Amino acid sequence: MLRTLRSVLRFRRLERDAVARRLSRAASVEDLRRIARRRLPGGVFDYIDGAAEDELTAGRNTAAFRTLEFRPRVLRDVAEIRTDTTLLGRPLPLPLVLAPTGFSRIADPQGELAVARAAARADLPYTLSTLSTRSIEEVAAVSTGRRWFQVYVWRDRGLVREMLERAAATGYEAIVITVDTAVLGRRERDVRRGFTLPPKLGLDTLIDGALHPGWTWSFLRADPIAFANVVGRSVGDGSDPVSLADYINTQFDPALSWDDIAWFRSHWDGPIVLKGVQSVADARRAADAGVEAIALSNHGGRQLDGAPPPLELVAPVAEAVGDRVEILCDGGIRRGSDIVKAVALGARACMTGRAYLYGLAAGGERGVDWVIDHLREGTRRTMGLVGASDVAELTPELVRWRDGERR
Ligand SMILES: Cc1cc2nc3c(=O)[nH]c(=O)nc-3n(C[C@H](O)[C@H](O)[C@H](O)COP(=O)(O)O)c2cc1C
Repeated sequence: MLRTLRSVLRFRRLERDAVARRLSRAASVEDLRRIARRRLPGGVFDYIDGAAEDELTAGRNTAAFRTLEFRPRVLRDVAEIRTDTTLLGRPLPLPLVLAPTGFSRIADPQGELAVARAAARADLPYTLSTLSTRSIEEVAAVSTGRRWFQVYVWRDRGLVREMLERAAATGYEAIVITVDTAVLGRRERDVRRGFTLPPKLGLDTLIDGALHPGWTWSFLRADPIAFANVVGRSVGDGSDPVSLADYINTQFDPALSWDDIAWFRSHWDGPIVLKGVQSVADARRAADAGVEAIALSNHGGRQLDGAPPPLELVAPVAEAVGDRVEILCDGGIRRGSDIVKAVALGARACMTGRAYLYGLAAGGERGVDWVIDHLREGTRRTMGLVGASDVAELTPELVRWRDGERR
């Protein structure tokens, strides 16, 4: 009996490293989200996880992937699977870009530096947000990989021009102009908690902080966090606690229009990506304006609640713009199979935001590596299962909407 017992008993080796232990127990991005929820103070988790108003759009972004199913093919020789493609005229090992997320240092003290390093290791572009907590130069100093710079358009165009010059001088490849933020969406979790950036310490946050000592300790030990790209340059540069709504609504230019694309062309030599396109008509307009790529995106559901899920726009937009502009699909990506679905419908690549932030909160830089590996392996496995050995074989015939409606 003892021999039988010995033959079936297998104990997991005790992992001494706490981060490795935590990550080894996760099987999906959703698992990392749960770990992040445990580790972060409630206000910080809600800032990352939350979305606008009733959060319908955020929910539909992920639900859309569940409504699309595969029509797999068999006996197609998938002994060798190639996930590589090209984006903005350069090779890309996986159809994936790391989306810009402001204020990453509240998830982990390394913040944007950790994400940029992980992206560079995987040879994927990392998009630095205008509202980052590490500067354009600090990120360039730790990453020789592909870097894009996301631009919010300040009322003060001199400030925007300077940021473009700094990005060009430090080797950023492309700019991503976010166009869905003329005014800030109402994120009611933040409103309820009175959340500010940086988080301010009140009685409730002190209690929350005491319940999350790991986060609080590293937050207090690190340099104070601020909007690193505009420190000392704009009223409310993030060094004083301010609600994101107040900040954006006073600093960003709501008069931004299609005419401004020419202004960007005259101040930026490289490719331009328009992020936040949400209709076929605007996708056509963007192609006419001559931008190199568009990101179909509703800001992860954080802006207009009731906006369409980007996945549903991919096929109609691809049909409308053809090869005139590259299409990125952004919002709700949690698995490699999601990437395969978006590419099959006509996207060149996907962008992901929360998935890597959950990883960052759960395991720092190694958590971001974990998420990238998970998405890479998931993409490869799904391609094998649907019978596609090359990204070029991912075509609309491989998928269908479960409700039978054509989109
Ligand atoms: C915490 C957080 C901060 C974000 N900050 C920015 C930002 O500064 N600029 C921007 O263009 N988009 C920002 N986004 C939107 C992301 O770039 C991306 O569109 C979105 O996260 C995609 O949806 P997903 O989170 O489901 O992947 C942010 C998203 C999150 C979750």
